[in-house]
Amino acid sequence: MLKEITDILDLKDINNDLIDTNYIENEFINNSFFKVLVYLINNTVVGYTYYYDIYDRIEIEMIYVRKDYRKRNSASSMLEEIINKNKEITLEVDEKNLPAINLYKKFGFNKYAIRQNYYSNGNDALLLGINKEEWE
Ligand SMILES: CC(C)(COP(=O)(O)OP(=O)(O)OC[C@H]1O[C@@H](n2cnc3c(N)ncnc32)[C@H](O)[C@@H]1OP(=O)(O)O)[C@@H](O)C(=O)NCCC(=O)NCCS
Repeated sequence: MLKEITDILDLKDINNDLIDTNYIENEFINNSFFKVLVYLINNTVVGYTYYYDIYDRIEIEMIYVRKDYRKRNSASSMLEEIINKNKEITLEVDEKNLPAINLYKKFGFNKYAIRQNYYSNGNDALLLGINKEEWE
């Protein structure tokens, strides 16, 4: 089940050891565009996505699924929910992160730029997007 979290109080009756509540509390206070979507199984957070919903576009900050719940479409459900908002969506991903790259490709994301040596491990960051006007 998907649930939008708009305040850390929304997590109070939910089992959660994935989401850093200090981090999201700060983001909620400091950035009114910040959104959190969680994937719940038996009232337990097994996946989440953090994103910024900025007028007509969305930046996905993180999408994460607990290891023992991967490959069961949880990330797909969360991503679909965001894609259904019909906005331009952008994100960045490590060039070596094949599970994530495959996930985004499956939903039609395209690469529009590369940030070389972006990560501390020396890997490049791929900038991916969907519904970007210049591609249509
Ligand atoms: C990337 C991640 C969120 C995928 O979550 P998930 O719930 O397992 O993904 P789904 O089950 O919805 O998979 C959807 C598609 O992603 C791709 N995918 C997922 N896991 C994969 C893997 N281990 N290897 C290759 N492709 C994979 C496949 O294309 C898959 O479609 P398919 O099942 O038809 O083959 C998860 O692996 C994760 O939390 N990774 C660590 C955090 C991370 O790197 N996040 C991305 C930051 S940009």
